[in-house]
Amino acid sequence: MATVLEGLRPDFLDRKAYTLRHGVLGHPALELASLAKVIPALPKDSVFHSNGKLSFSDNLDSAHLDHRPGQALEEAIERLREVDAYIMVRSPEQHESFRELHAQLVSEMNEHLRSVGQQPTVSDAKLYLFIASPNAVTPFHIDRYSTFLLQFRGTKQVTVFPPWDSQVVSDEDTERYVTCDTGRPAWKPEIASRGTCFTFSPGEVLHIPFVSGHHVKNGSDDVSVSMSVIFRTPETRSLTSALNLNRRLRRVLGPLSGSVGSVRPDHGLSALKAKAWETLRGAARPLKG
Ligand SMILES: [Fe+2]
Repeated sequence: MATVLEGLRPDFLDRKAYTLRHGVLGHPALELASLAKVIPALPKDSVFHSNGKLSFSDNLDSAHLDHRPGQALEEAIERLREVDAYIMVRSPEQHESFRELHAQLVSEMNEHLRSVGQQPTVSDAKLYLFIASPNAVTPFHIDRYSTFLLQFRGTKQVTVFPPWDSQVVSDEDTERYVTCDTGRPAWKPEIASRGTCFTFSPGEVLHIPFVSGHHVKNGSDDVSVSMSVIFRTPETRSLTSALNLNRRLRRVLGPLSGSVGSVRPDHGLSALKAKAWETLRGAARPLKG
């Protein structure tokens, strides 16, 4: 298979959102006719279907329950232009039509890590599909992963906020979400101007750094079909460990938790926190067993 991601910027990985190109426009797995067959055949807990009338402040994780769709999945895919539907599919690589694409992206991500001086060991690499009616909205959220979002059909406006901007998401909320302690941080309309809006089209890709806040609005012109690859890197695994230690320290210190300090990439103290957390976790394991 030809290169999927063209124009990767090693200096921007998990530091800055940017657009690049992909080389798989027209891939047969992403055509609506194929998706209409593949998606209903996937395990039910991999498919999230809501009615698409969401706002930036809705909860992404419960949207399929809070905004129930007006039609069955098969009908929604068939009539995407006429109905309001938002369909998110986790790990379509469970189906053979996506397996080669997934393997190729993992290989390219490992090469990308090598180019930034990290160990070439991505982990938890998954694909996600997003199929939505015109004007559908993905609410504001952050992710525990690094993301490349590939557009195949229709246009999207994706607003991305700088990662680690505590005005957008407080340090405590980032720690809570990344360590799975609570749900995603809330949307705050007053921070809207801190984001950068990318309008992107078929053939383009957007990099969304680890823990960068973002929200999405599909264009009004056409149904949108996009696919993301999400993954964890040695650096983001280390940052996740440091965030876990911070969360634990805040709980222990209570009113004195202001002295815990922020976790940030390239901070020596954050690397030490990560090592401390991994040592603590390693020491705790035999006791649990
Ligand atoms: Fe996301």
